[in-house]
Amino acid sequence: MQIKNSAVSMIIDATDQKELEEIKLQFLGRNGKLTLAMKEMAKLPKEKRPEIGMLANDVKKIIEETIKNHELRIMNQESETRAAKIDVTNPGIKPNIGHLHPMTQVLYEVVDIFKRIGFQVADGPEIETDYYNFEILNIHKDHPARDVQQTLYLDTRGSKSNPGEIILRTHGSNMQGRIMETIKSPVRAIYPGKVFRYEQVDASHGFEFWQLEGLAVDKNLALTDLFGTMSYVVKEFFGSDTKVKFVSHNFPFTEPSAEAYMGCTVCKGKGCSFCKHSGWVEILGCGMIHPNILKAVGYDPQKVSGFAWGMGLSRMVTLKYQMDDLRLLTNPDLRILEQF
Ligand code: DAH
Repeated sequence: MQIKNSAVSMIIDATDQKELEEIKLQFLGRNGKLTLAMKEMAKLPKEKRPEIGMLANDVKKIIEETIKNHELRIMNQESETRAAKIDVTNPGIKPNIGHLHPMTQVLYEVVDIFKRIGFQVADGPEIETDYYNFEILNIHKDHPARDVQQTLYLDTRGSKSNPGEIILRTHGSNMQGRIMETIKSPVRAIYPGKVFRYEQVDASHGFEFWQLEGLAVDKNLALTDLFGTMSYVVKEFFGSDTKVKFVSHNFPFTEPSAEAYMGCTVCKGKGCSFCKHSGWVEILGCGMIHPNILKAVGYDPQKVSGFAWGMGLSRMVTLKYQMDDLRLLTNPDLRILEQF
């Protein structure tokens, strides 16, 4: 009884959890008062033992419960005083707000420019057949253009496809055939997306990068329509004082073909390592769609003509932000991404 009373009064007076722990040890620990008292019971006459034993157990329970209840009370008091200390007029902690990846920002911006001049947006497969990626584009099996576009082949074992038939598309031009087979002239479409090549990765080469391809087919479309459209888009995106020039080139799927260059944004045309000291950077390939392709998709090359182009979208991002390394675009480091 005495033990119980003194334990309970000590517990009630305790002001923190540490004190409670000590009281618990003092009474219920291995050498605690109640524990020792219980050991003493062995000396009592046999018939008294059960009664005293029960009493001792009750005391133990009461001490434990009182500790538990008091602990709760202490905890509540602590959180109340903590709440009272909060100054609601303090400025809050500002959460970090994310933003679109620079690649996505540029993608949206360029797509928007094309939409304003009447192009619709299409999407197509990254895993492609040899037919749409090469064959329909006049790039037959022994064509040297295949060597330039180092192809990644999918393992076709166990499938219905022939070996070498299924690949990762090497350019967005895989969509030319698909679009013209589906939509009849006149058509104006763009199709941005990722393309893949078996490249040694360095500052200006990736095994995966973005292109924005497009085409227009209608009656009487001419090379000047192509040049006008490309110049308009580049100037809209990079600024009206941007210089653009077209240089004759050769692509199997266009005739005639050209490459467009723009004044280097890094050195403003003076020459730097980014533009290989030429002052110009290549941004797209283009040309008038080859009559063979128009025929293959069921168009009549006597009645309609068209132009097509493929621009390096990743290149446009690096040019816009004057990045000298393409690999920055696939680096997930927030210290880099937060700068855009
Ligand atoms: N497919 C070419 C490449 O990846 C780019 C290209 C050139 C696309 C001319 C075209 C085009 O549509 O007409 O290098």
